[in-house]
Amino acid sequence: MSDVADLSDHLEAVAASITGDMDQLLGELKAPDRLVDAMRHAVLAGGKRLRPVLVLEATHMLGAGRKLPPGSPQVAMAVECIHTYSLIHDDLPSMDDDDLRRGQPTVHKAFDEATAILAGDALQTLAFELVSTCGHPATAAMTRDLARASGATGMVGGQLLDLAAEGRFGVAQEIKDTYALAGMQAMKTGALIEVSCTLGAHLALATDEDRQRMAQYGAALGLAFQISDDLLDVRASADEAGKRTGKDAEAGKTTWPGLLGVEGAQKALDASITDALKTLEAYGPHSAKLAFLAASLAHRTK
Ligand code: IPE
Ligand code: IPE
Ligand code: MG
Ligand code: MG
Ligand code: MG
Repeated sequence: MSDVADLSDHLEAVAASITGDMDQLLGELKAPDRLVDAMRHAVLAGGKRLRPVLVLEATHMLGAGRKLPPGSPQVAMAVECIHTYSLIHDDLPSMDDDDLRRGQPTVHKAFDEATAILAGDALQTLAFELVSTCGHPATAAMTRDLARASGATGMVGGQLLDLAAEGRFGVAQEIKDTYALAGMQAMKTGALIEVSCTLGAHLALATDEDRQRMAQYGAALGLAFQISDDLLDVRASADEAGKRTGKDAEAGKTTWPGLLGVEGAQKALDASITDALKTLEAYGPHSAKLAFLAASLAHRTK
């Protein structure tokens, strides 16, 4: 399979199967209705499912196309739970204060702020329940890696630095160069994308060398992804992106187009896609899907 239309159809089918799994998981959750409704609103509103697709495609590639090992869907769902929780909290009035997400009102708009905080909390703990009960021999390592990527040393720490770069906590922590920007984004966005790829390596019981290569691919892809997200904010409409755009400059955020201009940001994006593709060379044709995913970031509109 290497035709572009086939690759795209395949990845959409994987994303749809993850959405089906999430629908079933949340449908079976025994919890207060309002909480489950808010979790379902956030998860099932839409979303590209990039991170769980990465988990499954990395597993597939490193397992040389063999059937996915038991526990794979649970681990894939776990990263989507963490990601969706991060979006719910990212949109809160005290964070980015956004009204639109995945083409729907944000959770604090559709419900209320307390429910949004709790729905995020519940998705986060659900993620760790999923990984820790998935029954795979690498469960302990996967739980550890997901925790590190999600918490203070990863996404949560990066979110703090993102807000600090707006000058919220005083001027001292403002970000003024691309090195500092890449460092902040490696935490807020890169860590979860990188761990999605290395969780795939764990699931495939891959060698340390393969896991490190997946970490390199994930880090380059994560950087490309956030540069393309910053570009989306200046180039896409809210209708296309499913979220408000043109907001980063208004909020005083430090972004790639802010530091380098749109053309400079596009060059940085192309360079990180090239880096991601290089790490896949060792896998030849088996890497077609992960390569397609990386290349498709160059001009995304959603
Ligand atoms: C948006 O992530 C937040 C960032 C990390 C930039 P996505 O663009 O993957 O959002 P969904 O999951 O498709 O809604
Ligand atoms: C969000 O980054 C990253 C996380 C949620 C961890 P952004 O604030 O740039 O994401 P959008 O643009 O609101 O989707
Ligand atoms: Mg943000
Ligand atoms: Mg935001
Ligand atoms: Mg953004």
